[in-house]
Amino acid sequence: MTEPTRHTDTCPRHVAIIMDGNGRWAKAHGKPRHAGHRAGVRATRAIVEAASDRGIAALTLFAFSSENWSRPEAEVSSLMSLFLEVLQREVDVLHEKDTRIRFVGARDQLSARLQRKLADAESQTAHNTGMELALAVAFGGRWDIVEAARRVCRKVERGELSAAAITEEEFAQGLSLRGMPPLDLLIRTGGERRISNFLLWDMAYAELYFTDTLWPEFDPAQLDEALRFYAGRQRRFGRTGEQVSESV
Ligand code: FPP
Repeated sequence: MTEPTRHTDTCPRHVAIIMDGNGRWAKAHGKPRHAGHRAGVRATRAIVEAASDRGIAALTLFAFSSENWSRPEAEVSSLMSLFLEVLQREVDVLHEKDTRIRFVGARDQLSARLQRKLADAESQTAHNTGMELALAVAFGGRWDIVEAARRVCRKVERGELSAAAITEEEFAQGLSLRGMPPLDLLIRTGGERRISNFLLWDMAYAELYFTDTLWPEFDPAQLDEALRFYAGRQRRFGRTGEQVSESV
């Protein structure tokens, strides 16, 4: 088995977030669910800026899962309008901050308009060298793995690859987050302690941080708390604690 890339710094290079709790936040404030999602966008903006300021190289945000399509139609359509609005408003700002945007998910399930906006955002920011921001929309970890499997199968069908030559590295070339640093830290807000079909492959060695805070209330100070939690972990990648201490 291949050795995972070792990252001994105390700051994670790649952080992913399951932004959960918008609906409950809205309910607690006597507001409709879409107001919760709008409050979620405000939190997202502050966290993206804070992550970039703290030198995090890559941030992946779970904005809409494969399973979220089964929400009431009105909520799905208001979320899609919100994504469009946010892209229209924020991409120039992110571009100015040298952020590179990547969209991950089943794009063909989205409206043509949203697909165009996402593609424009990617090409506008493609040569930026600051933080990489991956937005997961219509994304599922199983979907991602199946897509990667399709890619290697196509290579095998074309005679470019033998089954025996399928390594983890080769397989991972078909995953949505290819080329990004390995995922170091996964944060989930909103009190649940589950992964909900997010980055199943990528989180093999990620540290997991769960907080009860609802997403609209997750602020940069709480991001710092998650980063302190990460800094306190000993990342062993299968080795013993003694081996890790000897290697630093
Ligand atoms: C989960 O809260 C949140 C979502 C399904 C949508 C997340 C989207 C945003 C925060 C907007 C961010 C926008 C961009 C463009 C990145 P929930 O509705 O599942 O909350 P609940 O569990 O309390 O009902």
